[in-house]
Amino acid sequence: MKYENDRYTLGGMDVHAICREFGTPLYVYDAAYIAGQVAHFKAAFSGVPARIKYACKACSNLAIIQLMRKLGTGLDTVSPAEIQLGLAAGFKPEEIVFTPNCVDFGEIEQAIETGTVINIESISSLQKFARKYGGAVPICIRLNPNISTQVNSDTVDWWHNQSKFGISRSQLDTVKELEADHDLKINGVHIHSSSVIMSPEIFTAGARTVFDIAAGFKYLEYVDFGGGIKVDVGDGSPVIDLPALGQTLENLYSDFCDRVGRRIEIWFEPGRYLIGNAGVLFAECTVIKKNEAVDFVGVDTGFNHLIRPMFYDAYHDIVNVSNPGGAKHTYTVVGNLCEIDNLGKERRLNQVREKDLIAIKSAGAYGYAMASSYNSRPRPAEVLVMDGQAHLIRRRETYADMIQQMVPLDL
Ligand code: LLP
Repeated sequence: MKYENDRYTLGGMDVHAICREFGTPLYVYDAAYIAGQVAHFKAAFSGVPARIKYACKACSNLAIIQLMRKLGTGLDTVSPAEIQLGLAAGFKPEEIVFTPNCVDFGEIEQAIETGTVINIESISSLQKFARKYGGAVPICIRLNPNISTQVNSDTVDWWHNQSKFGISRSQLDTVKELEADHDLKINGVHIHSSSVIMSPEIFTAGARTVFDIAAGFKYLEYVDFGGGIKVDVGDGSPVIDLPALGQTLENLYSDFCDRVGRRIEIWFEPGRYLIGNAGVLFAECTVIKKNEAVDFVGVDTGFNHLIRPMFYDAYHDIVNVSNPGGAKHTYTVVGNLCEIDNLGKERRLNQVREKDLIAIKSAGAYGYAMASSYNSRPRPAEVLVMDGQAHLIRRRETYADMIQQMVPLDL
């Protein structure tokens, strides 16, 4: 979203016009911004044979998945339905990677039948896989690298040692035994980098560890660094310099290639980086109220539509797009659910009046994807602005949609 010529636009279109046409609350995504992020990503890693697998859990609308395909990414999926969405969007099975966590082995079998790339992340699943498929189907092993951390952060320590993700490094011997006994074709090694690890120093340590481990697999074709690249959401917290990270990786990669005597691919699974800042949740101010010292802006959305502020204490920049010239004032922006429902506390906004249009930014990733109809409020519509046109890519949920799966009793 941009402020140009005294008005807010998204993808070159007036945001008021979009919201007048489709109503609020409304998720709006900017296709050109997404294309720009894909291009930045490719440029940052142009020194290595990089492949992008869009993590569609971030925003799994079919049109967005189609757009990613058009932009030349692959797809990272975590459930059978995400695989189906990928196929419906035109991805070939081999362009889709299935990276689930703690799922029933039946889901893995289903993905194998479909022909997607398979990621195994527990010894239990690896044993079942080895017994059933042996070396007939290549697999990628997801590691929890237990990288010892140089940063003093409980969060990071927790991530390294307690995380439920991946096969622990201390279980690598078991992996090797299974590989030898069943002639497994382990052609990929994966770690999900996650935002805590995406600082150059920690990343370097992590990448070294992964390359060291990966060098021991004779069928290796790729190393997958997962996702977790943060974007600038305007709260002043640092974001990674992606081209610098690309350079670091290029050096590590060429050492690795010299060591093993061949070139492999490097995969990434970004979600938030590609779409986080491409999306805005628009809401209308329903009520202005003052309780004691706090000025509240009540809006026609809430944590049912964007759970991140309440669930993760995540920061989303909020703008009153209807009154750019209004005097700045401190407000707490709240949703319309019947419980504590903060979207942004103590924010400086241009004076807000009832009916003003409020933009909640950085809502492209894990926004609609985590939305619910809590309080029996329908989920918003979704719109993609592309080539100067606003396309409805999901209609607003209705009462009929909400009730259709319910089975009333015959009382
Ligand atoms: N690959 C794997 C294996 C992952 O687990 C994830 C995210 C990604 C890729 C994509 O990560 P990204 O690049 O989007 O950060 N709901 C949370 C985020 C959960 C991420 C889980 N895994 C949020 O709203 O911040």
